[in-house]
Amino acid sequence: MNAKSTKNPLILGIESSCDDTSAAVLRGRRLLSNVIASQQVHVKYGGVIPELASRAHQQNIVPVVDAALREAGIGMGELDAIAFTRGPGLLGSLLVGVSFAKGLSLAHGVPLVEVNHLEGHILSHFIETSGDEDHPDFPFLCLLVSGGHSQIVLVRSPLDMEIIGTTIDDAAGEAFDKCAKILGLPYPGGPHIDRLAQGGNSHAFDFAQPRVGGFDYSFSGLKTSFLYTVRDMSPGFVADHLADLCASLQRAIVETLLYKLIRAAKELGVSEIAAAGGVSANSGLRDALVAEGARRGWRVYLPPLRFTTDNAAMIAAAGLFAFEAGRRSTLDAVPVTRLAK
Ligand code: KG4
Ligand code: ZN
Repeated sequence: MNAKSTKNPLILGIESSCDDTSAAVLRGRRLLSNVIASQQVHVKYGGVIPELASRAHQQNIVPVVDAALREAGIGMGELDAIAFTRGPGLLGSLLVGVSFAKGLSLAHGVPLVEVNHLEGHILSHFIETSGDEDHPDFPFLCLLVSGGHSQIVLVRSPLDMEIIGTTIDDAAGEAFDKCAKILGLPYPGGPHIDRLAQGGNSHAFDFAQPRVGGFDYSFSGLKTSFLYTVRDMSPGFVADHLADLCASLQRAIVETLLYKLIRAAKELGVSEIAAAGGVSANSGLRDALVAEGARRGWRVYLPPLRFTTDNAAMIAAAGLFAFEAGRRSTLDAVPVTRLAK
């Protein structure tokens, strides 16, 4: 007899696509635990070193999953499904989470559900912590901005998403991180730029904002423009104008993101607007979305800060929708570094 509740399934989420090892437990949409081990080993290299990332995942995965289950007060046998990130991400990193999820599934007879990491970011809006959260109505547009992706996604339902614009080169987070590196700031630089920008004049400098066709993005021209500007400055001048440089860079990135999002919202006639991904933690972007929303009659949804960067709660949330729709994965599932969709 199966005593497991199907009304509010218990889902364990496992995320290991980049440099955060995370596990979370949801009962229905309600978050019971969300444990994240961030890897510090990459800081001294100024970027994620894939081989070191996968080794750190191997060290972290058992204690992280164990802590998530303990914090939730849930035993393996009670779970209805294990949701895992299949991709996109770093192959070696993904392998750790995928293999561990398969092992748990096999050992405890719990079904597996694979999750697209990017859909996880978007569906982070449906995680409930207090129960009185507001979440976007379908269809909505999601500005998905992370270290690896910058996309505008039309979300018709949790299982029906269409990427209508994407970056043709660097992602927004990459632009933040690469420009931060030029300034000598630690990795990842996005949060440092955000913090320093608060005390700066965002109109002190102008950087190139190349615009490509349709709803697509490009950030490599902005990065190059930033590099050339800073290269011509003396180190003393850069130090004196650090806040202004950060504020001006942040304005350029935010304006670039908003320009296409506004066009997409207009052309598609959608006024439910959400943001997701690591860069959606950026205070300049959050403020601009709220201001633009007030001007244009949008309903704007910003994820709580702790669900912006990589976490397993969002993977469990995406897994919940897939599980309820009857989707299951087999032990043949393999990680994918890039996903077609
Ligand atoms: O979603 P995420 O954790 O990982 C990926 O899936 O890529 O995003 C990480 C990215 C990094 O580029 C980081 O610099 C950026 O999000 N980020 C920020 C902020 N917080 C994180 N960028 C700008 N401002 C922030 N406050
Ligand atoms: Zn991510």
